[in-house]
Amino acid sequence: MEQKVLEQKLTDFFEELHSHPELSYEEYETTERIKRELHAAGIEILQTPLKTGVVAIIRGAQPGKTYGLRCDIDALPIMEETELPYKSEIPGKMHACGHDFHTAAVLGTALLLQERKEKLHGNVKILFQPAEESSHGAETVLQTGILSDVEAIFGLHTAAYLPVGTLGIRAGSVMAAVDRFELNITGTGCHGGHPDEGVDTILVAASVIQALQSIVGRNLNPFHTGVVSVTRIHGGNTWNKVELEGTVRSMDKEDRVFIEKRMRGIAENTAAAYGAKAELLWYPGPPATVNEETWSAFAEDVAKECGYEVVPQRNSTGGEDFAFYLEKIPGCFINVGTGVGYPNHHPQFYADEAALAPAAEYFARLLEEALGK
Ligand code: NI
Repeated sequence: MEQKVLEQKLTDFFEELHSHPELSYEEYETTERIKRELHAAGIEILQTPLKTGVVAIIRGAQPGKTYGLRCDIDALPIMEETELPYKSEIPGKMHACGHDFHTAAVLGTALLLQERKEKLHGNVKILFQPAEESSHGAETVLQTGILSDVEAIFGLHTAAYLPVGTLGIRAGSVMAAVDRFELNITGTGCHGGHPDEGVDTILVAASVIQALQSIVGRNLNPFHTGVVSVTRIHGGNTWNKVELEGTVRSMDKEDRVFIEKRMRGIAENTAAAYGAKAELLWYPGPPATVNEETWSAFAEDVAKECGYEVVPQRNSTGGEDFAFYLEKIPGCFINVGTGVGYPNHHPQFYADEAALAPAAEYFARLLEEALGK
């Protein structure tokens, strides 16, 4: 495909997606749009039980392994505040995380690999994953078993901290494990003027919240990253119950287990000291996103061959459900510079279309060369 033709095609597709954002597990039109483009290019679509999302396959003419490339396709419940001519047509929904960019770039990679499949060793499964923002789309895909033969996997994310022409790549933990918790504190109700007759859960909650901050400050290895945030507190209707909710971020498997254990100990024992009870409920989200060393180095080499500048990927305490794949399959999650500006999830987030075609070409070469190794 001629460079100009590819650029135009990807730009048009990106703008179409951007104008029509759909939230997690509601990506029906987006799924149809992707399928239409794949059909038009003669690319094989695999049958899956997924209601939204698509898995395509490029079967190389040469024998080899099967590797994967994944993008995510969902948008966010955010009211767009850009002045783009192709801004969201759906009030309250926006592609504010650049998943429209991912989808268009990966479609480009599929088109390029399809053209080059005579020389391709092995197969590439191209995964247009639903519901990344829900944190559970990747699990939905893994449950289908569609990736059981995939021996290496790559993914990408727009980076508003990098200019176009730059990639962020680094081995190790690059994004955090994201866990949610609820903490219920129960005491004994009494007359407001006679605190001596009850157990005041508001006071207990205040102590617990303060003490929880000592985990990162005093217990975690100072060279490690961790976040413990109480993000909601509800109490005061009666004296005998306060509910807390919050999020925990960690970059390391052992820290993740350790923080939960410390939280439980602090909450239960602080509450007990006041004569109250605390119950911690833990809702695990994605683990930390851990890039495999050899594949990260390889991804960097190919990036340089393609004329990209490569910088070390920034650490993020945000979460990414690509981590579920990397738990099972080695690979690398790569930041693609889409112009320095408003961060992801901001109502004025913007991804520069100039980065589309180069990203499509890069991932095509990455997969080709990885399979040809
Ligand atoms: Ni995202």
